[in-house]
Amino acid sequence: MGKYPAEPGDGARPNLTVPKEQVMEKVVALAKRRGFIYPSSEIYGGLSGFYDYGPYGVALKRAIRDLWWRHMVELRDDVVGLESTLLMPRAVWEASGHLENFVDPLRQCLGRCKKRWRADHVLGEKCPECGGPLDDARLFNLMFKAFVGPLEDRASEVYLRPETAQGMFVDFKNVISSTRVRVPFGIAQQGKAFRNEITPGNFVFRVREFELMELEYFVRPNQDDESFDYWRKERLRWYTEVLGVSPEKLRMYDHPKESLSHYSKQTTDIEYEFPFGWGELEGIADRTDYDLAVHQEKSKQDLTYLDPETNERYLPWVIEPAVSMERIFITLLVDAYDEDVVNNEPRVVLHLHPNVAPVQVAVVPLSKKPELIEVAQEVIKGLRGEFRVEYDQTGGNIGRRYRRQDEIGTPFCITIDFDTLNDKAVTIRHRDTTNQERVPITALAGRLGLLTDGLEPS
Ligand code: GAP
Repeated sequence: MGKYPAEPGDGARPNLTVPKEQVMEKVVALAKRRGFIYPSSEIYGGLSGFYDYGPYGVALKRAIRDLWWRHMVELRDDVVGLESTLLMPRAVWEASGHLENFVDPLRQCLGRCKKRWRADHVLGEKCPECGGPLDDARLFNLMFKAFVGPLEDRASEVYLRPETAQGMFVDFKNVISSTRVRVPFGIAQQGKAFRNEITPGNFVFRVREFELMELEYFVRPNQDDESFDYWRKERLRWYTEVLGVSPEKLRMYDHPKESLSHYSKQTTDIEYEFPFGWGELEGIADRTDYDLAVHQEKSKQDLTYLDPETNERYLPWVIEPAVSMERIFITLLVDAYDEDVVNNEPRVVLHLHPNVAPVQVAVVPLSKKPELIEVAQEVIKGLRGEFRVEYDQTGGNIGRRYRRQDEIGTPFCITIDFDTLNDKAVTIRHRDTTNQERVPITALAGRLGLLTDGLEPS
């Protein structure tokens, strides 16, 4: 974890080391059991590569989305937002090169199983599933095609966007002329993207519908290196300091020339060490002026920018940090997943940073006695709006209720007990250490504010 590690204090518990090969299975099971992620259309057998998000999943997603937007747009004065459409006409994808280049090599098993494989994911000439022979590789375009209007002809062809970036390039002129941005500046966008992946897998690591969060940062021509370097560092910082991802599980991977996308001069991936190996979390690409140039040519519109400082006209170059919600989501779950022992019983716990925890504070009255419930209602009223809160009035074993909150990653439980009626104080129970502290109700919001900002380890 980054700024919010569990300090080994009095309440620290021995960790049960979860074997690496079991982590994914356990995380997938927890995600379903606790309402984070469900397979899409499950009652009809599911749809491969598509997932729905349950109540806690939605809360976690919103937290991630808001933190990305806050740090990429709201806390800066050089980035503006955009929301472009999910469907865009064929001309856009012709110009961008996606129709020609957004392809994966596909091979099909000619033996018993008939399974399709990404050619670069299979070694040798035999089907990894049944050992049958494979056909020759052919190129398969990953974009989903649709038609606008009743006719299914070339003119009505549209594609679900495989990246949000093209919206930012196509609207570049509109943003320049309708706002006061000056190069260097960025346009940020969050929204759904679709790729007809040949082999979706590793839970939500590779899916067919996902949410992208992309920034196109425009700089003067040939002044890309400095900005590229800045964004590499800034994005890594965001993962460790804002989301609390373990720094030792992150690394930078610089792509060799031969694996660069068709638009890229240089790309660095921020990789995470997943249980199935190192994998791309986020990509930071130097797209040069490739996209603005091809759209200028194809649309016959002048997309140049007149620099008021130098009086020069040019197509800006672009640095692009891009990540999907799904990759962050799975990173956070895997990074946070842990098993330890509390009161001689094994427990499952998600050590999520308070910034992202779907529930930051759970209020749990010790019993269903009306006088306790009344205080609990008052307490939660004072916290709602400032924190993501949940009220657990189910009564019964308090340990079991803590355990449920531990599993969804709630960093703080507020217990209302019979002493509360006399001393007007409550207990904050810390998830990571299980330590407890007594706090006057009047000081509770302030104390939790400090704790959820990650300013103090529990
Ligand atoms: N506009 C640049 C772009 O789209 P990309 O590397 O193809 O670049 C950007 O994708 C990010 O989107 C990746 O770094 C990864 O976080 C995420 N991503 C890509 N394909 C994905 C998939 N099938 N499922 C989930 N996330 C995906």
